[in-house]
Amino acid sequence: MSGSGTNLQALIDEELPIAVVVSDRPGVQALDRANRADIATEVVDRGAFLPDREAFTDAVVDALRRHEVDLVAMAGFMTILAKGAFDAFPGRIVNTHPSLLPAFRGAHAVEEAIEAGVKVSGCTIHVATPEVDDGPILAQEAVPVLPGDTPDALHERIKTLEHSLYPRVLREFIQQLEAEEVGSR
Ligand code: GRF
Repeated sequence: MSGSGTNLQALIDEELPIAVVVSDRPGVQALDRANRADIATEVVDRGAFLPDREAFTDAVVDALRRHEVDLVAMAGFMTILAKGAFDAFPGRIVNTHPSLLPAFRGAHAVEEAIEAGVKVSGCTIHVATPEVDDGPILAQEAVPVLPGDTPDALHERIKTLEHSLYPRVLREFIQQLEAEEVGSR
């Protein structure tokens, strides 16, 4: 978590089973939201590991393992994780991104959509891979880009979609993992 944590709040409100909230910096709203909901938190400070992305990633993986996490849901986690995270949780890291992927990957997706003059944008929930904002798409929803839209206005409209879609998709993903586990017993 790096940002305001509204997607985390949506997951909390929908009562998804959250073992820990991991932030890449201290003092973010996501940590306050977790504390208020009595959810464990871990800060793995990106700044303390610069420039070593692998060591930072290893520390994130350690934190997740300490809390026996089965599925990792990224929500506004703006630090790119090294391959080690995807090896540790193969096919089990999910991300939400504020564009209709594969259009507008990266940290400036909303601004770039406006600059490109697209008439429709939206959000994408996908399985994350070492390639940023890549990986199998689980779900997408679209919103119109309105004349005169600012990046903030469009992002707010996209976030409203994320807040309902992300919990729903994660719940289905968890149910699928549970079914697979029962099937393999
Ligand atoms: C979301 O739009 C997410 O898709 C993007 O960053 C935003 C995070 O918002 N990667 P929040 O911190 O959940 O409010």
